[in-house]
Amino acid sequence: MRLAVLKERRPAETRVAATPETVKKYLGLGLTVAVETGAGLAAGIPDAAFAEAGAEIAPDAAAALAGAGIVLKVRAPLGAGEGAMDELALIPRGALLIGQLGTEGAEAYAAQGIEACAMELLPRITRAQSMDILSSQANLAGYRAVVEAAAAFDKGFPMLMTAAGTIPAANVFVMGAGVAGLQAIATARRLGGRVAATDVRPAAKEEIKSLGASFIGHEDEESRAAQTAGGYAKAMSAEFMQKQAAVVAEAIRKMDIVITTALVQGRKAPTLVTAPMVESMKPGSVIVDLAADAGGNCALTVPGEGVVTPGGVKILGFSNWPGRIPAASSALYARNLLTFLTTFWDKEAKAPKLPAEDEIVRGVTLTRAGQVVHPMLTAAKAA
Ligand code: NAI
Repeated sequence: MRLAVLKERRPAETRVAATPETVKKYLGLGLTVAVETGAGLAAGIPDAAFAEAGAEIAPDAAAALAGAGIVLKVRAPLGAGEGAMDELALIPRGALLIGQLGTEGAEAYAAQGIEACAMELLPRITRAQSMDILSSQANLAGYRAVVEAAAAFDKGFPMLMTAAGTIPAANVFVMGAGVAGLQAIATARRLGGRVAATDVRPAAKEEIKSLGASFIGHEDEESRAAQTAGGYAKAMSAEFMQKQAAVVAEAIRKMDIVITTALVQGRKAPTLVTAPMVESMKPGSVIVDLAADAGGNCALTVPGEGVVTPGGVKILGFSNWPGRIPAASSALYARNLLTFLTTFWDKEAKAPKLPAEDEIVRGVTLTRAGQVVHPMLTAAKAA
């Protein structure tokens, strides 16, 4: 069976879905591997490194996809009219397509007889942890957010005691202490910042404290029940958000760096930093909005851009934060996909075997045998 790795063509996408390390492992499973020329360049992996690992370098997407039984992608393949080419039309019928696909393309995958797995829909269970692309990518995004905040900040993170006087430590506030937020806290602490954090899930408070940061936030009955069975935050009531905003407004005035990471699955990101809160901050302060792609946690974020407010606050709302550290994020993403495939691998047939009843498979499978099968999509259609 042939496994194809395509070059990513969507804007701001620098990652690649396989690395020389995972290519070798795929060959070991009995696959042949075709990598489209230039697929790894933006992540610092030249064609020669893939070739050395044993991959065939295909001159274009069509050549890579010809006869492929498995297709690895970071983002959904381009469909007709979506960009420079129609990648989807080139994927052979019956192929298994794996990536961070979103759900928009499901009907098209079904119509083309592609078995599509959207890895971001993976259930958050222990067994799935090593395949969890959202975790691996959020972790790196959290790290990168702090590094970029430090670069944009015109003072320092640690307290600097010099013969010429003392520079105080930066006050850092991390909003949303999930995977990205916890890494941001740890990284900001390592740089010497004075770190506080907030979240609505009750488990997050202890995690914040265990990393040496202080907890800021409103707590009540609602926040004590703010976690879904799937481990995600619930959307909070307007009343809770108002009380939380009052506590945050008081704290944020004194902050030099604010890093926001709050997401609510399937919804626009909650607005946690309002325009008056930004205006209350000192000139030269930096806000990094990791939720920019989901609409942003800061009211003044311009998604995809870095801006400076009239009051001199820098707001970094870049797209695709994991893509800003592409060698590391590709390495982890590629391993997540490898673990998924090796977990559901039929050694004798040397082919993937995805049991429909398995919780992980059910969680990620969008389409099978020409049908849209994901419960989220079939339920939405029935409603
Ligand atoms: P996420 O990316 O969906 O959200 C980020 C953070 O924002 C979360 O901690 C959430 O509680 C917080 N948030 C949402 N609304 C907020 C608001 N109004 N104010 C402040 N904070 C708000 O979440 P992420 O990072 O993907 O994961 C959340 C949790 O899921 C993890 O901390 C962990 O407990 C669990 N998890 C479990 C895994 C597993 O068992 N396989 C894998 C990954 C995560």
